[in-house]
Amino acid sequence: MELQLKDKVAVVTGASKGIGLAVVERLAREGVKVVAGSRSSTPELDALAAEHDVTIVPVDLSTAQGAQTLVQQAVDRHGHLDILVNNVGAAEPRESFLKVDDAAWQRIFDLTFFSAVRASRAALPHLIAAGGAAIVNISSINARLPFPMVVDYSAAKAALTNLNKSLSEEFAPQGVRVNSIAPGPVRTPFWTAPGGFADATAASAGITAQEALNVAVPQGMGITTGRITEAYEVADLALFLASPLAANITGTETLIDGGQAKTL
Ligand SMILES: NC(=O)c1ccc[n+]([C@@H]2O[C@H](COP(=O)([O-])OP(=O)(O)OC[C@H]3O[C@@H](n4cnc5c(N)ncnc54)[C@H](OP(=O)(O)O)[C@@H]3O)[C@@H](O)[C@H]2O)c1
Repeated sequence: MELQLKDKVAVVTGASKGIGLAVVERLAREGVKVVAGSRSSTPELDALAAEHDVTIVPVDLSTAQGAQTLVQQAVDRHGHLDILVNNVGAAEPRESFLKVDDAAWQRIFDLTFFSAVRASRAALPHLIAAGGAAIVNISSINARLPFPMVVDYSAAKAALTNLNKSLSEEFAPQGVRVNSIAPGPVRTPFWTAPGGFADATAASAGITAQEALNVAVPQGMGITTGRITEAYEVADLALFLASPLAANITGTETLIDGGQAKTL
């Protein structure tokens, strides 16, 4: 399928690992000029930058200035902006709502919700000027399936899903489509990093992290396909939504969860 993305300019937040890295890779292979934001780089992102038109911008997207800096660097370098992928976000395993203080709520909201508010606010004037532009928000199944272990993250993703709709309503008439993706569990460092959700699940079930990811999580969460999602599968969906092939799709939220969600 020809995605008609060649020579477009894209900003990707949270770009050094996981889903963000997969989005950068897929975009770069389509000939998109990518500006990739995260606090640090990785060998995988460095390799993409060596081979393609990928600019790495070290930036803390939990700060008020971070998103503005990232978008400005993209426009300074390429003169315009066509695509924004609001990917960055993070959760921390919680024992109880009663143990999540204000600082923790603020930390999760800053990175998972306000990063998208700020990046969208900085990017929209440029996206409108470009015409035929798109924002893709990486939300989560937890936006509609809140879970006590990620109580604050679930609320932040619900806010992002809500914002997605407001932005799509206001800006579609100005040539900017806004869609979100709601993944279930995806095999990324979010799960696999030491102390991440695979370790937490493994510890509570008395199994290895590998068993948790390959068996316990799909079974325990009712994932009908029997496996979690791979990062490149989310990236492929993001590229489609960002592309002119989806020119009449806006305001949507697409689940990619292997059938985990049981209602429409
Ligand atoms: N994995 C899943 O199961 C899953 C499911 C549903 C939704 N999602 C959502 O998908 C998105 C990506 O998740 P992922 O699993 O790919 O995450 P990940 O593997 O943990 O990667 C997170 C990325 O964000 C960057 N990042 C973290 N804090 C940052 C900060 N303060 N400023 C700038 N960059 C920062 C990280 O790089 P640095 O550390 O170098 O900054 C990294 O590149 C998130 O919004 C997540 O909520 C994930």
